[in-house]
Amino acid sequence: MELVIRDLFAEDIDRGFLETLTALAEVRLRPREAVAVFQKRLRSGVLTYVALDGDRVVGTASLLVEQKFIHGGGAVGHVEDVAVHPDYQHRGIGTALVNHTLTQARQRGCYKVILNCFDSLIPFYLRMGFRHHDACLRIDL
Ligand SMILES: CC(C)(COP(=O)(O)OP(=O)(O)OC[C@H]1O[C@@H](n2cnc3c(N)ncnc32)[C@H](O)[C@@H]1OP(=O)(O)O)[C@@H](O)C(=O)NCCC(=O)NCCS
Repeated sequence: MELVIRDLFAEDIDRGFLETLTALAEVRLRPREAVAVFQKRLRSGVLTYVALDGDRVVGTASLLVEQKFIHGGGAVGHVEDVAVHPDYQHRGIGTALVNHTLTQARQRGCYKVILNCFDSLIPFYLRMGFRHHDACLRIDL
């Protein structure tokens, strides 16, 4: 399989993208609704990447670049929603997607990249060079 990683296009949404995301969580969007969400994300600067086997989406990861006042106005990358289709897991696709977001964050001038993950996935991220940093907290609104 020749893996290609690139930006998400609207046409990809119907080609395995939503199904791939359900590896992470319930999506509850019809393809047309997902296209509207995609356009909203584009307007707010959320970067969505996909891994493709031919024209089938088999993995995805997102990157948000946050412009800070502190650290001399530096930028921080936030990796979100990493998912690989169950039929394609354990073949290096998740690692390739996260490395792609790191390259993109570097090109956009980020001085660090942070993410939240399930405890069970900590070794997966440690292998890529991430280290433990602070705690993750949440409040439901
Ligand atoms: C986590 C995930 C993105 C990894 O993608 P992948 O393409 O399988 O990852 P890689 O092949 O690059 O690396 C595989 C390694 O990741 C780790 N890993 C993958 N899935 C794991 C899981 N569910 N629990 C613990 N470790 C896991 C293992 O160390 C695995 O090594 P192995 O193949 O030798 O068993 C994918 O399993 C997935 O989509 N899971 C469901 C959604 C999710 O949890 N997303 C992460 C949110 S932070």
